[in-house]
Amino acid sequence: MNLWELLTSTAVQDFIKESIKKKMDALQISTALNKAGYSNEERAAIMDYMGLVPKFREKFGCEFLLCDKLALEQSTAQDIGHWKAKLWPSGEDAKGKAVHDLCCGMGGDSFFLPMELNVTGVDLDENRLVMYRYNAKVFRGESDGKTILGDARTVQTAQATTRADFFTIDPARRAVDGENQRDLRNLMPTFAEVLEIAKNYRGGMAKLPPGYPMNEVPEDCEIIYLGSHTDCRECLVLFGSIAQHPGQIRAVMVDKNGETQAEWSAPRDTKREMRDDANQEQFEHNLELEGKDRIYRTSSSQSDLPMGDLSAYLSEPEPVLLRSHLFGVVAVTSDPSAHLISEGIAYVSSEKPLPSPGFANFEVLGHCEIATSAVRTMLKAHDVGKLTLKLRGVKLDPDTEIKRLKPKGKNSAILFYTRLAGEKNAILAKRI
Ligand SMILES: C[S@@+](CC[C@H](N)C(=O)[O-])C[C@H]1O[C@@H](n2cnc3c(N)ncnc32)[C@H](O)[C@@H]1O
Repeated sequence: MNLWELLTSTAVQDFIKESIKKKMDALQISTALNKAGYSNEERAAIMDYMGLVPKFREKFGCEFLLCDKLALEQSTAQDIGHWKAKLWPSGEDAKGKAVHDLCCGMGGDSFFLPMELNVTGVDLDENRLVMYRYNAKVFRGESDGKTILGDARTVQTAQATTRADFFTIDPARRAVDGENQRDLRNLMPTFAEVLEIAKNYRGGMAKLPPGYPMNEVPEDCEIIYLGSHTDCRECLVLFGSIAQHPGQIRAVMVDKNGETQAEWSAPRDTKREMRDDANQEQFEHNLELEGKDRIYRTSSSQSDLPMGDLSAYLSEPEPVLLRSHLFGVVAVTSDPSAHLISEGIAYVSSEKPLPSPGFANFEVLGHCEIATSAVRTMLKAHDVGKLTLKLRGVKLDPDTEIKRLKPKGKNSAILFYTRLAGEKNAILAKRI
């Protein structure tokens, strides 16, 4: 019995169910597996897999799936998967149509596609295809779970009998040697290759990392930034007949059931895309401007948001609005007074709160230079004892700084260490 057969065997699945029910700890599990006659290697594999069970149950809401740690990490979760499924033809329009899930991995991008579509997973890694076949059957039944061991770049042109109408692709990200981070341009297949692949299908979609430079995306594509309240998980590029709004950018906040929670859109603006790319490089290489919070690419184009002084409110755009660069357009449409307070820093200041969802709004209580005595005086004046420190454009350790400030008082507040017209500044505010 190979590893995958072992993990999907009734004996192992029953054991896992029982051990979860009995809330067994690692030692009890290992002892029980030993007693049941599993070898050391099998025990290790079962225990590793058991560590993933709560994770895939949460990510996909089903009892058993086949995966390993990396395949699970790379997979598209059910909230985003459900949302994306609505972009495909369905009902009569989908009947008899075939889709290639290119770089299918364990299958996250196939599970929720309309049932009328015939989906085939394509991957270079046979282990991933084993996972895909098992998982596709869990979600889509016996008729699906077809796979091709092959290269996403050539599968459509290699054999006439396995051609598909549509594609979805989720390129792998190559790790950069010696770094934890993954270079977002370093995709396998590359985005240039994805553009070539797209020419051979009626339409399709490509999942890119959210920070991928959008000026590389052809004008006739639609771009959608997808995430939740707290993150932006992918930049989805739609091609051909799947692109219902070519030339548009959308930012969509998806709830846990895969429904649209909030959505914004605007025509693409080539000038802004070019300028933002240049700005991003500048900020990425300016250590002085890096705080513990990530520095986001900002829309500092004059046409979107002008610069100005600190007004009554300070707002933090939520990740999908930031990544899509739409936050400037959305802010100024809601409040014409909206502006940035420092070049390249993604805080918006305005006379009234900005729309929520979309922005986290804070009422400004006061501000001063970043100097211990000045900040302490400001905290004391507002009787602030409980602080959350947010950094953007200033680099220091927030926990050490809060200890140093020793706030004493009965109110809680947010302290922003950021920049006003390029100069470091502390802004005290209340979340509203
Ligand atoms: C990010 S994972 C896909 C995750 C998948 N969409 C999911 O939701 O489970 C990328 C996959 O691309 C595969 N891959 C990389 N280059 C490929 C190529 N040229 N052709 C086919 N598959 C490839 C890798 O083996 C890996 O399984």
